[in-house]
Amino acid sequence: MEKSVTGKCSHQLWLVILILSVLCLILFSFDYSIMMGANNEVPFSVKQLNPLTIVDNQTNSATNQSFTDQSLGTYSDIDPCSGRYIYVHDLPSRFNHDLLKNCRSLTRGTNSNMCPYMANLGIGPEIENSQGVLSSKNWFSTNQFLLEVIFHNKMKRYECLTNDSSLASAIFVPFYAGLDISQYLWNPNISVRDSSGKDLLKWLTERPEWKRMWGRDHFFVAGRISWDFRRKTDESSDWGTKLRFLPESKNMTMLSVEASSWNNDYAIPYPTNFHPLKDSDVLEWQRRVRSQNRSYLFTFAGAPRPDLKNSIRGVAIEQCRAARACKFIDCNVTNGNKCDDPVSVIRVFKSSVFCLQPPGDSYTRRSIFDSILAGCIPVFFHPGTAYAQYLWHLPRNGTKYSVYIPVKDVKLWKGNVEEILLGISKDKELAMREEVIGLIPRIVYANPRSKLEIFGDAFDVTVDGVLERVESLRRLIREGRDPSVGFADGDDYKYTFSQWERFE
Ligand SMILES: *[C@@H]1O[C@H](CO)[C@@H](O)[C@H](O)[C@H]1NC(C)=O
Ligand SMILES: *[C@@H]1O[C@H](CO)[C@@H](O)[C@H](O)[C@H]1NC(C)=O
Ligand SMILES: *[C@@H]1O[C@H](CO)[C@@H](O)[C@H](O)[C@H]1NC(C)=O
Ligand SMILES: *[C@@H]1O[C@H](CO)[C@@H](O)[C@H](O)[C@H]1NC(C)=O
Ligand SMILES: *[C@@H]1O[C@H](CO)[C@@H](O)[C@H](O)[C@H]1NC(C)=O
Ligand SMILES: *[C@@H]1O[C@H](CO)[C@@H](O)[C@H](O)[C@H]1NC(C)=O
Ligand SMILES: *[C@@H]1O[C@H](CO)[C@@H](O)[C@H](O)[C@H]1NC(C)=O
Ligand SMILES: *[C@@H]1O[C@H](CO)[C@@H](O)[C@H](O)[C@H]1NC(C)=O
Repeated sequence: MEKSVTGKCSHQLWLVILILSVLCLILFSFDYSIMMGANNEVPFSVKQLNPLTIVDNQTNSATNQSFTDQSLGTYSDIDPCSGRYIYVHDLPSRFNHDLLKNCRSLTRGTNSNMCPYMANLGIGPEIENSQGVLSSKNWFSTNQFLLEVIFHNKMKRYECLTNDSSLASAIFVPFYAGLDISQYLWNPNISVRDSSGKDLLKWLTERPEWKRMWGRDHFFVAGRISWDFRRKTDESSDWGTKLRFLPESKNMTMLSVEASSWNNDYAIPYPTNFHPLKDSDVLEWQRRVRSQNRSYLFTFAGAPRPDLKNSIRGVAIEQCRAARACKFIDCNVTNGNKCDDPVSVIRVFKSSVFCLQPPGDSYTRRSIFDSILAGCIPVFFHPGTAYAQYLWHLPRNGTKYSVYIPVKDVKLWKGNVEEILLGISKDKELAMREEVIGLIPRIVYANPRSKLEIFGDAFDVTVDGVLERVESLRRLIREGRDPSVGFADGDDYKYTFSQWERFE
């Protein structure tokens, strides 16, 4: 009896294996056809399996390889969404939509009225006349703080949404965390600052979705730097809210424009002004940037600050002003801050070989992504500016796309940026620029009204990163290990120079 049962079982097992291998074969041959660029009408499912394969004749090493190891290769599944379903919480509107209605209350600390930026699903009003500097369409006045809204609107069109949370691989919480705290950041009363975060967490933990993984499959997005959510004490003079130190919040993952050194914070690109509708818009822009004449060796866009004399920023400005081959874009507000105008920034970045990206008030700057967009090779002085941040979006090997001039102590630093940059060979420069240009699709947020077909944009890359992260936690649980180990720990070494001395 026993024997015949197992016999029958193994019969069925062989049949299943046979069917699966045939399916695999079919899927692989489809995939092969995309690699060869033979088929533009790629079936949806297959396209998803290899979202980062780029079909373009001109592009070479930059766009060819790199990231395939990060894409999710679930070849043996028939359902193209298997392992990729996302459930979006339907939050009470005070955590998101109401904030947009009250956009006037969000304006503090932004130098500008936030309301106009809500247009076009959060990417802002279209830039009408760029004097030929930008493409005629697809450029918008985008505000970094609206990344939360852009991301949410893109998520609404994500192809693998589900209303059945038991199917979902990850749970998205569309809380506009940064917009919310911008109402209270300057409020001396810390219980006021922390209250909406506490309300949200209470709401979340009462949902059935919470208990499945105790929130470890939950994620949300913030258009502000993580440090704004990491107030360590209850002193009212301390900056920020303590959202990320609340026990429930620790179990979740936060994606923001700049990550802190805690393991449950991840950095994703700042939104730029370019929001292509179609792949061809990206290809056209890449061609344009590639064929651009670059008359400046390097550029620095920033505001001089007398109090930052001993910072790298101060030295960058000094050296830029002293160098003949450097263009300085003055971001001094009283001189009519040219840095807020994408046309003047991109015009200069497009005409420069290198763009200096010293850390400012925080490690990162939106300018990193403007520089990539313009095909201007970024020059970094601190590992926290990009290498330790955008792990999903930028190559692990920073040497490929950037120049690294580590400056640990500005007072002892005797280097000369111009000399260092002049020492880089033309071949090396060309290779780096090609790599930078190849990164453009990965760092832009395509227009939320559409979805790129061939390219994976910053949103797609982020979703893959989140899904992979949650899957690795599930793997730990299956192996009987504890997923909470290290999950919310601080990493004191994350932004230290020694971690990033070499890329080997
Ligand atoms: C790719 O190259 C082929 C042959 O050289 C050419 O016919 C085709 O138009 C090119 N496609 C693109 C997108 O440039
Ligand atoms: C592009 O990738 C293919 C397949 O991996 C490889 O054979 C080819 O050499 C690569 N081309 C370049 C320019 O790196
Ligand atoms: C989820 O439910 C809402 C409301 O019933 C519906 O509008 C939406 O299309 C559903 N989404 C999916 C992915 O089934
Ligand atoms: C802070 O705000 C809360 C709630 O509005 C209030 O109950 C409390 O008295 C305030 N604390 C201080 C020190 O003003
Ligand atoms: C966080 O997750 C752990 C298990 O990983 C769980 O024991 C704990 O209760 C969770 N915290 C909250 C507030 O749900
Ligand atoms: C770049 O410069 C060359 C020589 O000065 C000129 O012929 C060419 O038209 C310029 N290209 C662009 C795109 O401006
Ligand atoms: C900004 O520009 C104004 C007017 O030119 C000038 O007075 C001020 O000193 C500048 N600020 C800095 C920090 O250089
Ligand atoms: C990093 O990139 C540089 C330049 O392409 C290359 O020389 C070096 O071997 C790479 N390092 C690793 C570990 O791939």
